[in-house]
Amino acid sequence: MKPTLDPEIHARRRRRLMRRIGKTGIAILPTAPVCYRNRDADYPYRPDSDFYYLTGFPEPEACLVMVPGHPEGEVWLFVRPRDPEQETWTGRRAGVEGALRDYGADVAHPINELDQRMPELLSHRRRVYFPLGRDPAFDRRVGEWLNQLRAKTRSGVHVPTEFVALDHLIHEQRLIKGREELRLMKQAAEISMEAHRRAMRACQPGMMEYQLEAEYLHTFRRHGAVPAYNTIVAGGANACILHYTNNDQPLQAGDLVLIDAGAEYGLYAADITRTFPVDGRFRPAQREIYQLVLEAQRAAIAAVRPGNPWNAPHEAAVHVLTEGLVAIGLLEGEVEALIADQAYRRFYMHRTGHWLGMDVHDVGEYKEGDDWRTLKPGMVLTVEPGLYLGEERDIPRRYRGIGVRIEDDVVVTRDGCRVLTEALPKTIDDIEALMAS
Ligand code: GLY
Ligand code: MN
Ligand code: MN
Repeated sequence: MKPTLDPEIHARRRRRLMRRIGKTGIAILPTAPVCYRNRDADYPYRPDSDFYYLTGFPEPEACLVMVPGHPEGEVWLFVRPRDPEQETWTGRRAGVEGALRDYGADVAHPINELDQRMPELLSHRRRVYFPLGRDPAFDRRVGEWLNQLRAKTRSGVHVPTEFVALDHLIHEQRLIKGREELRLMKQAAEISMEAHRRAMRACQPGMMEYQLEAEYLHTFRRHGAVPAYNTIVAGGANACILHYTNNDQPLQAGDLVLIDAGAEYGLYAADITRTFPVDGRFRPAQREIYQLVLEAQRAAIAAVRPGNPWNAPHEAAVHVLTEGLVAIGLLEGEVEALIADQAYRRFYMHRTGHWLGMDVHDVGEYKEGDDWRTLKPGMVLTVEPGLYLGEERDIPRRYRGIGVRIEDDVVVTRDGCRVLTEALPKTIDDIEALMAS
């Protein structure tokens, strides 16, 4: 779970959120449960991103309650209590003492007291902010606390009357990254770039896709990172399967391999794709398609600047790709009409990017009302155009089964953008040179 942010950063985030919630509101946010892989073997634990963003608290079975203006304290943490016998089995716990000392709680209690204490905390608050609908069992629990309160209205207790989606408020806050967050994202990007370089050097015809995946896992773990999402290692036509993660086929000389892999470091993600030739030399048809995607990516990155709408990079990429598809004869017609008809979607069926942060497909709205939202400094997004030419017979033989995507991570700055993953080779010459080194 290391590295951690300064507890004051989490405190500042909570204060900002509490200003929005106000003294008539209360916010309730549980962390993620432990998930089981089979029987009692669990997946590596990862806290809920929203919960972690506000607390930095890494353990399961915890709940944050924020009660602005409450005389006993505004920040309440419910956590697993210390338990020497349990800790022998499952590891150290912060406990109630640690929640107070290290995680900025004003008040802390064992998690098994949540049901008993919540009705009282909810009384005399008008609005309840919580992640409505995320977990039906938790929704029911909140309902039960309210019912207990309702039973007491004759003794003068007020019951909240409004329910607000807490996620939305937190997500708008998470959308703009602060300096410390960008530092962690840069580190996630550095680790991921090192892994991509290592894989490009290690790649040989005859290797299995999973053997290249191993180069990523090796590099990530060496730096205390984990994969931010399931690694895609797609040789040849497997690259045309967008979420290919079987990674169990041999890599063949003369084919390209598309690798979409990123590290999560300190709970922040990188998300990088590179496509390179298995034997280190691009073939002529592969060069044409690759160069086209690279130019589309350059045009898209050039459209990332404050004041531009979210969709500007996508539109720039679609324009370059459509022109190129016409030039090489994969589409016929007039470019503007083909764009209007979305004819490119046969070969480019996804969008050009997404927000990036603690979650690989990070939170935050893409539209404000009916309009695409405006890019602002501190937003981080991926720019990842691609072309996927399947093996259908109407595609000229030389292009069949070529799949290319190039993906970088980009921060919107005051005067344009900064590409966090800039240092990783992506021109044909630079890739061939790295693979030959
Ligand atoms: N790796 C998931 C994506 O590129 O969106
Ligand atoms: Mn990706
Ligand atoms: Mn992506």
